[in-house]
Order: sequence, then structure tokens, then C-alpha cells
Amino acid sequence: MKVLVTGGAGYIGSITSAELLAAGHEVIVLDNLYQGHRAAVPPEATFVEADLADRGALARLFAEHPGIDGIMHFASYTLVGESMEKPFLYLRDNVVNAANLLEAAAANGVERFILSSTANLFDDPERMPIAEDERIVPGSPYGESKAMIERLLHWMERVHGMRYTALRYFNACGDTPGRGEDHDPETHLIPLVLQVALGQRDHISIFGDDYPTRDGTCVRDYVHVLDLAQAHILALGALDERGSSRYNIGNGEGYTVLEVIETARKVTGHPIPSIVGPRRPGDPATLIASSDALRRDLGWAPRHPKLEDIMASAWAWHQSHPHGYADSE
Ligand code: UFG
Repeated sequence: MKVLVTGGAGYIGSITSAELLAAGHEVIVLDNLYQGHRAAVPPEATFVEADLADRGALARLFAEHPGIDGIMHFASYTLVGESMEKPFLYLRDNVVNAANLLEAAAANGVERFILSSTANLFDDPERMPIAEDERIVPGSPYGESKAMIERLLHWMERVHGMRYTALRYFNACGDTPGRGEDHDPETHLIPLVLQVALGQRDHISIFGDDYPTRDGTCVRDYVHVLDLAQAHILALGALDERGSSRYNIGNGEGYTVLEVIETARKVTGHPIPSIVGPRRPGDPATLIASSDALRRDLGWAPRHPKLEDIMASAWAWHQSHPHGYADSE
């Protein structure tokens, strides 16, 4: 298929683009390079530098690249903590950018859409692990923006017959030899811990140790970025047959912040000093996915489910790219 990947210069988007190409698809990457890296875009992909806020640029993209079969929409502001401080980057920009993309997609007859959604839809789950029919209670303006985009998709299907899959990621992590996580500023636990191991930071701050969990720190379900990429490709391939759906993606196992740090100590051999600080606003205590539906419907099976292996893949990337893509540019 001919696939438009928005945010294809970012962490998950670039790795999924590479996997799409390896699976024989044609890829057009759209990215404004605000957070993404030109060096992350696979050379075999067509690259269009444009902003989703620019409807004229979107119209040109579809005119210049007719026959797009499907869209994977990664481009987004993605930080729970930031969204608590700058809600309208999320409640306005994420939502309007998605609406612009959907409007252009519908006008150009695109029938398949895969959305990067989030576990932050589930702030107050009644059951753990969390299944797709859990009630949606966004935990932050970020989660709310994704809930709103899922609603836009509902109407795109009703009005235009566009089929969609919303993939609610739990905690994406891990890297590949050539592409990995490089955010500025970095806010995610695993890359931060590895920056301590590289000697780039003195310590890792633990955001709260008074949560109702086994050691008082937050529990998350860490899922390898390659397994996320695989889920996207399976979802795209199944859309015509299965129709629209929503899936949670995680390994079904939760690790505390302390357990993540301990795993990093084991993998890197570095003591990784830590300091307990206050809670970060917007963080729920525990998020663990049930991916039973994804396994059952699409035959998804994570190839890298062990935290130690995920950490080792991230450590390999951080060692070979201590300054991220600045080392390959
Ligand atoms: N944490 C720390 N110290 C840090 C950074 C993080 O203790 O310096 C903790 C957080 O409080 C959280 C855990 O480590 O409990 C993971 O935090 P991340 O920032 O790595 O990831 P989040 O869980 O906040 O968010 C990620 C994605 C979101 C997505 C969410 C879904 O960034 O887009 O997972 O669970 F919505």
C-alpha cells in the first residue's frame, strides 16, 4: 500500500516507517521537524516537510501524491506532564491538526486511518489490566485530545465510510540499531535512566513513592517500539476485512519505577543513583494493558516482551548515539 505517515521523523513514526518499507509498502513521511529528526526518516521514504496546521500544504501533498491507501497518524504533542501546563497545545493543536488531516484525507478518498492513541484515556480504570471497553476518563489534556480525535474518527466513518483503528499505546520504549528515542527535552523514564548510566546526568528523580503500588512508585506497562510498529502494520492490513476498531497495546505486565531503574542497573552495570521527589501531576498510579483483543483479532504477539531485552536494545542505541541523531547528522 501507499501509506502516509505523519510524524514519520519522530521516535515511533520513523521506526514504523522503516518496518512498513521492509514489509514492502511505499511510505510518504510528513513531518514539521519540530520534534522529529530528518536523519530518522528512512532514505527510501518520500519526505515532505510540512505542518498539519497548514491546510494548503496538506492539499498540495495529496495533489502531488495521489492514490494514498492509508494514513498512520503519529504527529502529535505527546507529553502528559506538558499538557497539564500547556493544555491548548493539546486541546487545540492536536485536535485541529488531526481534523485538518482528516478533512484532506476524506477529500482525497483515503479509506484507511490508523491513530496513535494512548493509555492516558484511562485515568480511573475499574479493572486492571485495562481492556478496550473500559470507560474513557482522560487523565490529562493530552489524553483528552486523543479521546477527541477518536470521536472525530467515529464521525469520519459515519460520514465518509473511512475505516480506522485507534491503537492505545501504553509505554513505548526500546530502540533499534539505527533509530531510537531522542527527545529534547527528554522526559521519559528509560532514556533518562540511561543518560545517568552514560554519565550525562547525576541521578534519576523518582516522581513520588507514595502511590498505592507494591513499592510506592508508579506501575507502567512497557512495550517495545518494534512491537508497536508491528501492531500498526497488522491493523492496516486487517482494516478492509475487520472494519474499525480500538485496541490497547502493552505486554500485560507492569513494572514499578524502582524495578525499571533496577533493570537498568543490571543491563548497564552502572549504580544509577536515584532521588525521590514529588509526584508529577497527571500520573495515574498503575496502567497495565490487556491486549487480548489485539492478539485474538490481529494475531499480534510481542516479539520483545521482556523488560531486560527492551532495556538492552535502548542501551545499545544510547551507547552508539550518546547525543541521539546529532551523532548521525
Ligand atoms: N518517571 C519518573 N521520573 C522521571 C520520568 C518519569 O519517576 O524522571 C515516572 C513517571 O512518573 C511514570 C513513569 O516513570 O510513572 C513513566 O513515565 P514516562 O514519562 O516515561 O511515561 P508516561 O507514563 O508519563 O507517558 C507515556 C507516554 C504518553 C502516554 C503514556 C501512557 O509518554 O504519551 O505513556 O501510559 F500517554
